[in-house]
Amino acid sequence: MRFTAILVAAGSGARAGGEVPKQWRLLAGRPVARWSLEALLNAGCEEVVVVVPPTDLELAAKAFAGLGRWRAVAGGAERSRSVANGLAALSSDAPAILIHDAARPFLARRHVDGLLAALQQADAALPALPVADTLKRAQDGAVTGTADRDGLFRAQTPQAFRADLLRRAYANLAAGATDDAALVEALGGVVVLTPGDPMLMKLTYPEDFPMAEHLAGSARRTRVGQGFDAHRWGPGEAVWLCGVEIAHDETLMGHSDADAGLHALTDAILGALSLGDIGDHFPPTDPQWKGASSDRFLRHAADLAAQNGARITHVDVTLICERPKIKPHRLAMRARVADILGLDIAAVSIKATTTEGMGFTGRGEGLAAQAIATLDTPA
Ligand code: CTP
Ligand code: MG
Repeated sequence: MRFTAILVAAGSGARAGGEVPKQWRLLAGRPVARWSLEALLNAGCEEVVVVVPPTDLELAAKAFAGLGRWRAVAGGAERSRSVANGLAALSSDAPAILIHDAARPFLARRHVDGLLAALQQADAALPALPVADTLKRAQDGAVTGTADRDGLFRAQTPQAFRADLLRRAYANLAAGATDDAALVEALGGVVVLTPGDPMLMKLTYPEDFPMAEHLAGSARRTRVGQGFDAHRWGPGEAVWLCGVEIAHDETLMGHSDADAGLHALTDAILGALSLGDIGDHFPPTDPQWKGASSDRFLRHAADLAAQNGARITHVDVTLICERPKIKPHRLAMRARVADILGLDIAAVSIKATTTEGMGFTGRGEGLAAQAIATLDTPA
């Protein structure tokens, strides 16, 4: 189901204390609010409106640098006011809207998928955890009673809504609402629970931050993509391989510059992102890519990775040919690829092999390239 999201980050974080509001504090090196934004983008969200304190619009631009499909608007004095501002700023007509607390950084694609699935049969869905601890009522430190916890759940976010009903619920918003689902309940909407997750914890108190630092490592995923490409040899005087032009007595034939190394690598990155292949993004039938320099394709794949909150951690390319000799050019190729991807040269490996005269590469009909890309992505 197509969906958009409102990420509420306009609170002052009074209970958490600290020098900056909790949504801007760093968690494993990244601002708290950035974690959720990356996760929403990675889960396929069409548009995210991030609601921030009116004074923090510039801070937001810095915290979310490089990410795509988001914009920031100013929030209100109460959370529900902030949501209302976000709702007014959403421009997409997607049928589902998620509302998420920026203070819950460990959002993952699986949470979003579960909510969207539940929304097929309901007007709203939210993750919730059964209350596991015994509930005591107390006054001034003295117990006055034990409450029945049966049937009680702790509501988390994101909360997912059918867009039309959410807009109706917010059309006549009264002050004091803390939970968006409650507004839909009041309209008689069907609201269902999906399994909650301790990872959806909200950073509320100072002591939540050390715990979150411990959990941060388990909230990212390593994804691997592979790519393959081959081009035919033809008459020419030079060949482009891995972004470097090499003098040679033949060239590779193709619609673009036929750099099979960069094409395989572009496909490997797209593969790790599950975003199709190079032909989807740069159709060979499109005249604008005729003779195109393949570093543009690779740059595009790297931009897509960044926009979706992923980081390329390592790439490894194997060129398969009898000629030309690759070894003398390997360092220049690694430097060029590292430059295109904005990586350290140590994160770029380029290897070559022959097939000992066998097959199309062995007979000198063409050159083949394989690539593997490793990406660190939101869970
Ligand atoms: N929020 C908001 N606008 C408000 C109040 C809260 O966008 N006027 C957001 C917060 O930024 C947070 C989420 O709603 O992501 C949940 O609220 P809470 O945990 O209470 O955050 P704060 O209000 O910032 O914290 P505190 O209540 O301790 O001041
Ligand atoms: Mg609050």
